[in-house]
This record gives sequence, structure tokens and C-alpha cells, in this order.
Amino acid sequence: MSKNPVSRRQFLGYTLTGVGGFMAASMLMPMVRFAVDPVLQKKDSGDFIATSQKVSDLTEQPVRVDFSFEQVDGWYTSDVTNSAWVYKEGDKVVALSPVCKHLGCTVNWGGDPAQPEQFFCPCHLGRYEKNGKNIAGTPPLGPLDQYEVSEKDGFVMIGKTIANELV
Ligand code: FES
Repeated sequence: MSKNPVSRRQFLGYTLTGVGGFMAASMLMPMVRFAVDPVLQKKDSGDFIATSQKVSDLTEQPVRVDFSFEQVDGWYTSDVTNSAWVYKEGDKVVALSPVCKHLGCTVNWGGDPAQPEQFFCPCHLGRYEKNGKNIAGTPPLGPLDQYEVSEKDGFVMIGKTIANELV
């Protein structure tokens, strides 16, 4: 009778099981991580995007301000350019979304020479007041969305869209 409690056969079985388990885990872990990686990423949804618009240059007349950001959709990353209509209301900076609330065309400030103090959507002749309120009798049924706004080093920073608080 052997003094060893583990036979040679058992030792070989344990060793092969351990090595096999380690190799399987080494192969599976990267696959599992790849599958759930976007879920584990931190979201920057509260971040503001820098623009080249100086706050001191703003007036009460809306100006179009373009801004770019990196959009991450699962594993796909792309550069997106967006815009806002930005103006001053007293000391407050207001930024409105240019996306028409009818069918999503882009509105322009003073786009209709007959109504230079309104936002105008050329697609179906939609109109909005300066604060984004849709004008009754035109196709849009709701006001333009607003952007959260902040200021950094004298420049306008644009945040996420929120419901229009001016109307
Ligand atoms: S999309 Fe703007 S009025 Fe229809």
C-alpha cells in the first residue's frame, strides 16, 4: 500500500483539470469582457461640450453655434456635429435646439423675410417665437427644445437637451 493519499492517476486528473480550467477561463474572459464592455463604460451624459462662441459676443439676436462631439453607440464611435440657436436674455444665455418639433427639419432664425423676428421651418412653413414657442396655426405642436448651457473661460458650453423652460 502506498503512503501517498493521492495516486498518480488522481494527481494527473487534478493537474489536467486545473490546467484545462485555466486555459478555458483565459479564452472565455476576453470574450465575456468584449460582450459586456459598453455596459461597463462610464457614461458622460452630464458633460458640457465646448463651443467657439464667446459669451461676451452674444446679443439678444439668436446666432447659430455649431459644436462637435464624439458619439459612442455600443462599440461604434463617430464624430457628430450639431448646432444651437444661442442668444442672451438679460444676463442669461439661452440655447435652443434647431430641430423642428413637427417632423424634425432644421429651423432658422429670420428664415422668412416677412417675419424676421421668428424661427422659421422651411419644410412646412412652421414658425416659432424667439423663446421657441410654436406659433398656433402652423404645423409644429410643441416648442423648440432647450439646451442646458454653462460657461467656461468666457465660452459657451452646451449640455443636453431639456424641455423648453421659457414657454
Ligand atoms: S418639419 Fe418643420 S414644419 Fe414640418
